Amino acid sequence: MAPRFRVYIAASADGYIADPGGSVAWLDAYPGVEYGYDDFIRSVGTVVMGRASYDLARSFGDWPYPDQRCIVLTRRLPEPPPAGAHVAFRSGDVGALAAELRAMEPAAAPGGDVWVMGGGRVIRQFLDAGALDTLEIYVIPLLLGGGIPLFPPGPGHGLTLRGAQGFASGVVRLEYGARPPAPGGRQADGPGTDR
Ligand SMILES: NC(=O)c1ccc[n+]([C@@H]2O[C@H](COP(=O)([O-])OP(=O)(O)OC[C@H]3O[C@@H](n4cnc5c(N)ncnc54)[C@H](OP(=O)(O)O)[C@@H]3O)[C@@H](O)[C@H]2O)c1
Repeated sequence: MAPRFRVYIAASADGYIADPGGSVAWLDAYPGVEYGYDDFIRSVGTVVMGRASYDLARSFGDWPYPDQRCIVLTRRLPEPPPAGAHVAFRSGDVGALAAELRAMEPAAAPGGDVWVMGGGRVIRQFLDAGALDTLEIYVIPLLLGGGIPLFPPGPGHGLTLRGAQGFASGVVRLEYGARPPAPGGRQADGPGTDR
């Protein structure tokens, strides 16, 4: 079994992953530890991110993904990565990158998943290339009114709802399979649906 290519991301209720200035400070009130981040990151061997998300992650101080291989998509000249980071810089077709990663990751090894971390422009390319398996979206009860979209404009895609869970904080976790349900198939038959 190949590694899973997963999106795990927080978005405002109006569909933005960062405010117009690129800040995610509005997420500070919703620490990932309350939403399964620690278990999630242990399942990840490779993090793929766009240059804008990389620049933001670097600004946080300690490099947040010391145990993962990180692939940064950029067309610009790479800079030396931060201390403790295992970073490779790539550009071009994400379909080809996904095929390489599928071949590289130890089959179904624990901790072998690929986290397509973001931002929206990178997630959109993986989605359009048919290279995503699941999207786990934490909808934050907040309207940002503008900013960087989770899904920039592009082709439409059917999704399969695999689970939905509400938290006391007002956050809602939505888990989708990245492909439409089989004809006649029901949405969200699996465990974890809280509707
Ligand atoms: N809410 C959350 O949980 C969350 C998670 C992740 C990110 N974010 C936010 O998302 C924002 C960034 O999202 P974004 O959509 O604007 O940008 P992004 O996807 O992080 O980065 C886009 C950049 O990546 C490079 N790139 C993308 N695809 C490429 C390809 N196929 N080949 C070569 N280079 C490629 C390009 O950089 P070059 O200009 O270098 O070529 C492009 O300008 C940040 O503000 C971050 O805070 C939020």
